[in-house]
Amino acid sequence: MEPHLFSPLQIRDLHLKNRLVMSPMQQYSSPDGLVGPWHLVHLGSRAVGGVGLVITEATAVTPEGRNTLFDTGLWNEAQVAAWRPVVEFVQAQGTKIAVQLWHAGGKGSHAHPAAGFHYISPAQGGWVTKSASSVSLDKQHTAEALTIPEIQALIADFAAGAQRAVAAGFDAIELHAGHGYLFHQFYSALANQRTDEYGGSFENRIQLLIETVAAIRAVIPVSMPLLVRLSAVDFSDQTHAWGLTDSVRLTALLQQHGVDVVTASAGGFSAPDKASVVPLYQVPYAEKIRAETGVLTGAVGLITTPEQANALITTGQADLVVLARELLRDPYFPLHAARALHLETPAPVQYLRAFPAAGH
Ligand SMILES: Cc1cc2nc3c(=O)[nH]c(=O)nc-3n(C[C@H](O)[C@H](O)[C@H](O)COP(=O)(O)O)c2cc1C
Repeated sequence: MEPHLFSPLQIRDLHLKNRLVMSPMQQYSSPDGLVGPWHLVHLGSRAVGGVGLVITEATAVTPEGRNTLFDTGLWNEAQVAAWRPVVEFVQAQGTKIAVQLWHAGGKGSHAHPAAGFHYISPAQGGWVTKSASSVSLDKQHTAEALTIPEIQALIADFAAGAQRAVAAGFDAIELHAGHGYLFHQFYSALANQRTDEYGGSFENRIQLLIETVAAIRAVIPVSMPLLVRLSAVDFSDQTHAWGLTDSVRLTALLQQHGVDVVTASAGGFSAPDKASVVPLYQVPYAEKIRAETGVLTGAVGLITTPEQANALITTGQADLVVLARELLRDPYFPLHAARALHLETPAPVQYLRAFPAAGH
């Protein structure tokens, strides 16, 4: 039988019960990088709702890797301890959980979105942001270019963050390499003006991501999947902008270095043309990357109906359907989708009287 939305998927030793994934969504609710009851309920309720995989919001590997003072972290042991009950609750529902590790680079040090999301200087409690080059990504401040020793230290920070993720019990790790954050600041020539071994050619610009992937692979179990979220295109017509062909090339190399899944998002330095933002608008990126490299792909962006989600799997456009805002609107989307598609997925035993199995 051809795979569908509720077909299981094996990635290394990880068994997903279906193809529905909760997309990472920053909650700006973590002073000192600590998760708490909000995260237990927020992530836990999507597990109760039946997604196969929950991916946490972007979680910083150093305090300076945060976008705001309220982002989650994995740079100390208190954060590992805070994550554990969240991880265990999600897993107890038969759902797997990955942590999305990131560094915001030159997009760091911003106020809480409810307070205006403006840049906060070191004197105001923020920090000096670092990026591939001395550029302004928010049009409010200019980042400093990372030195080579600082780049090496960052790679080590990612490896340490990955080890803490293993200690916290996560099933998988996703690297956030899109949306104009640090890795994207390196691989896109729109933000990378370096002239050393981390800038210039395609090979040099992707080097930070490749070295980080290798450093993480060296410290996590072979059985543990490693995912990467890319911005597949830059939404820019500048000739040096990052494009889909670059993403295909990069994915093939990531695969050689032990990456199992690529989720194809887009943009981060400039917004797409409004008229192009239609349902499924980013799916062609996942489809092309999957067809050209054979890597497992996640499709994300304006996927909102059970029929759209199921068709992505049955037609082989993607292997995973990654939902963000629709899961905020409906945490029980998987249970509702199974019913709409006349497919089977078990509801939590506590809820069986509301979601009886077919034939009962
Ligand atoms: C509140 C919110 C926070 C987000 N935070 C993250 C994040 O931490 N990491 C990430 O990769 N994408 C983040 N995104 C992007 C989503 O994961 C997703 O790619 C985007 O919303 C498009 O999917 P959708 O149309 O299903 O919402 C965020 C989106 C929202 C709405």
